[in-house]
Amino acid sequence: MAGRIPQDFINDLIDRSDIVEILQTRIQLKKAGREYKACCPFHGEKTPSFTVSPEKGFYHCFGCGAHGTVIGFLMEHDRLEFVEAVEELASINGVDVVHEAGNKPTTPAAPLYELLDQAAQLFREELRSSDKAITYLKQRHLDGETAGRFRIGYAPGGWNYLLKHFGGSETGQEHLLKTGMILRNEEGRVYDRFRDRIMFPIRDSRGRVVGFGGRVLDHGEPKYLNSPETPVFHKGRELYGLYEARRANRKLKHLLVVEGYMDVVALACHGINNAVATLGTATTTDHLQRLFRATNEIIFCFDGDRAGRDAAWRALQITLPELREGRQARFLFLADGQDPDSVVSEQGAEAFNQQLAQSLPLSDYLLQQLKSGIDLSSVDGLARLAELARPMVNLIPEGVYRELLLGRLADEIGLSTQRLATLLDNPPAANPTYAAPRSKPKNTTNQRSSHIRHAIKLVLHHPAAAKDLALPEGFEALTNPGISLLKELLTAAAKTPKMKPGRLAENFAEHQDGGRALQTLLTQEVHLDNESNWDIELRDTLNAILREALEYRHNELIAQADSPDGLSDTEKTEFRELPQQLARLRHGIS
Ligand code: GTP
Ligand code: MN
Repeated sequence: MAGRIPQDFINDLIDRSDIVEILQTRIQLKKAGREYKACCPFHGEKTPSFTVSPEKGFYHCFGCGAHGTVIGFLMEHDRLEFVEAVEELASINGVDVVHEAGNKPTTPAAPLYELLDQAAQLFREELRSSDKAITYLKQRHLDGETAGRFRIGYAPGGWNYLLKHFGGSETGQEHLLKTGMILRNEEGRVYDRFRDRIMFPIRDSRGRVVGFGGRVLDHGEPKYLNSPETPVFHKGRELYGLYEARRANRKLKHLLVVEGYMDVVALACHGINNAVATLGTATTTDHLQRLFRATNEIIFCFDGDRAGRDAAWRALQITLPELREGRQARFLFLADGQDPDSVVSEQGAEAFNQQLAQSLPLSDYLLQQLKSGIDLSSVDGLARLAELARPMVNLIPEGVYRELLLGRLADEIGLSTQRLATLLDNPPAANPTYAAPRSKPKNTTNQRSSHIRHAIKLVLHHPAAAKDLALPEGFEALTNPGISLLKELLTAAAKTPKMKPGRLAENFAEHQDGGRALQTLLTQEVHLDNESNWDIELRDTLNAILREALEYRHNELIAQADSPDGLSDTEKTEFRELPQQLARLRHGIS
């Protein structure tokens, strides 16, 4: 089994790739100044708002907000998983993908994948020879072909089936424990986790078995048992059936998100091969991102009961931040007591598809929920609606989709979009007629964050500026919002000053401290105070950040000195030294 692809290799590959050349073979690009333009391949449009910057190594659509490096483009456009996109890019560049290797185990996880695969194999064989398990699956109308495609198996009863097969050596036992296939009790005795259960192997995007779900054959408890979180299995990320759905059809028009293993499998038995299920957990952002990479339209199917409705509302909130033009989410509510399995099994695929066609678009569902129980004929009702809508609308990224939804909402309640936007305190970004001179005085926190934002923009647009930079004394100790992101960006840029801005933004997109904003900052112009000297501008900006933080701290200490508590001894020292430190900074001596 191949090992991990080193991050350095991937970075290098992105840096040496010509984004224009690669996109050109897939969409029609036109040169416009230093950039290239095209009609966005990710949403329908007639005038081009998709731009590619070869300098930044980055694409961005001003219409739908799609953005990323060449890897991101290949993932979205060619519908590839990350590793596949790296492989594709390597082959375009005529190089072989490097894997971490050597004689030692390629990764610590490799033997775990191996073991899980063999376990799945054994469970398949056990299923063939178990009348009891076969009878159960027949009674649930599961056909052999589908069972094979999903590698469904049977874990026999007893306490040491897997232990007998793999637990002979110490390493064998250790791997069984690490995969969660066996447990250790308080007396230190080990035993199989899955006993006398129908086994559903859960596969990752590359088809490797990473865990199992196991169902009892009778009415025992718990009905389903899942593998625990392990080094290779993360419930918040994996989706049951996604690998199989993508294998059945690369270009998935839409994906159905259902609640259970049996729903996925039963739909597949009826030729509906595009269903996936979360693993007994709520839908996560990670799930959503994986789903939207595989398709533009997601249909959530929920049971009609209270739990189903609650789950739908949660799913909606997770979906809003991922929305943009060209992406769609719909909601299907089945009758109380029904699930997709029971609908297809009792009424057939046709009936299920008819219900699917009736599913609600996300915007309809959202409005319906927001409006329920509100009297829209009263002013209070309108205000209440705006109040409820605000946090929802704000979850949607700025862009055409959000504008459209605001428009819908405004129509619905008989207000102009502008009035509504004011009500939501949320001016439409692209509307020049909307003058919003809100005269809130800028407070110190805002000013500080504007310097930090400027510094982040500088490193992002011009990583080389961080190359020989010395951080001002005391900077390391700062903890304001945005600072940890800035510090890490500076370190990364100093290490690889030739890095393309697009890759820098992508590497930090998941950063807790505002990483998502990087893509937006990358699309903005940078105005330098110091003409065209990026190094000086960056140094001065870092000094300004530090100065403000110290001034703020100084004021805090002054206030505290006046309070009944007074200052501690260390605070007194700090208080004495601060003005000198500030003076040095003001005079540019660090
Ligand atoms: P069937 O009764 O086999 O049709 O199951 P289902 O697919 O209709 O499942 P159900 O609606 O009962 O539950 C949906 C999903 O929730 C299952 O596929 C499991 O992932 C999970 N689940 C259900 N029961 C349990 C349980 O007892 N424990 C755990 N951990 N998960 C469960
Ligand atoms: Mn069911």
